[in-house]
Amino acid sequence: MDNRPIGVFDSGLGGLTVVRELLARLPGEDLVYFGDTGRVPYGTHSPETIARYAAQDSRFLQNHGVKFIVAACGTVSTTAPQVLAELPVPAMGVLEPAADAALAATKNGRIGVLGTSATVRSGAFDTYLKSKQPVEVFSQACPLFVSLVESGWIERDNEATVAVARRYLQPLREQGVDTVILGCTHFPLLTPVLSDILGEDVTLINSGAACAARCEELLREQDALCDRDREGVCQFYVSDRPQGFSAVADMFLGRRVEQDIHRVNLEDMDRV
Ligand code: DGL
Repeated sequence: MDNRPIGVFDSGLGGLTVVRELLARLPGEDLVYFGDTGRVPYGTHSPETIARYAAQDSRFLQNHGVKFIVAACGTVSTTAPQVLAELPVPAMGVLEPAADAALAATKNGRIGVLGTSATVRSGAFDTYLKSKQPVEVFSQACPLFVSLVESGWIERDNEATVAVARRYLQPLREQGVDTVILGCTHFPLLTPVLSDILGEDVTLINSGAACAARCEELLREQDALCDRDREGVCQFYVSDRPQGFSAVADMFLGRRVEQDIHRVNLEDMDRV
């Protein structure tokens, strides 16, 4: 048994898709979340820059005494997995759990991957999926989705979001995919828009939820889950103004988190 917190990080709001699922699955666990809102998006940067940010984010969480680190970021998971592998605390990303869920779901062996530009450039989903099963993979970079989510434009009838989504999803529709991996953790916040366009025959894989389920499994295997009777506490840290973060976080998590959000200076991040 281990009552230390679980650390979760992302470039911004996307990792809340992991947090929401962890809160539902493991309500007794303390969580420390870091959203690097001062440097979002990560997905337009080079692998070297993303690796540097990921190392800093992880050190920030380690300084909060976490027992486990979840890189709740498809971009970090696909472009800088070596950073996670070298950490002194156990860590995981979203790539393997999301890809495994897609392989279990597909019936026609045609899988779409939506990700950031860096994720699609890395080819990591493609490589992993094909190493497990002989599937066809169709990847689409959707960088504008990240800004739309960070701006809170996530409603199903938001005309701009729907127009952008139609454009990004058209190639996947033409390829007849039956399963689409939301390979960036920001994207599950757009699920209503995406499923309206893709239709109910296409299974959407929420990378955040798949990752949280695997996190629970790993903690159980390592006998590192917390005491059963406790009530977990969640602390959120962001590297820019908390207001935008709190508006979407409240809506998405279904509870008010404003009082639990703390601002971190990026200059301090550069020192850790
Ligand atoms: N949520 C992130 C991901 O899963 C990062 C998006 C970004 O910062 O570009 O890829």
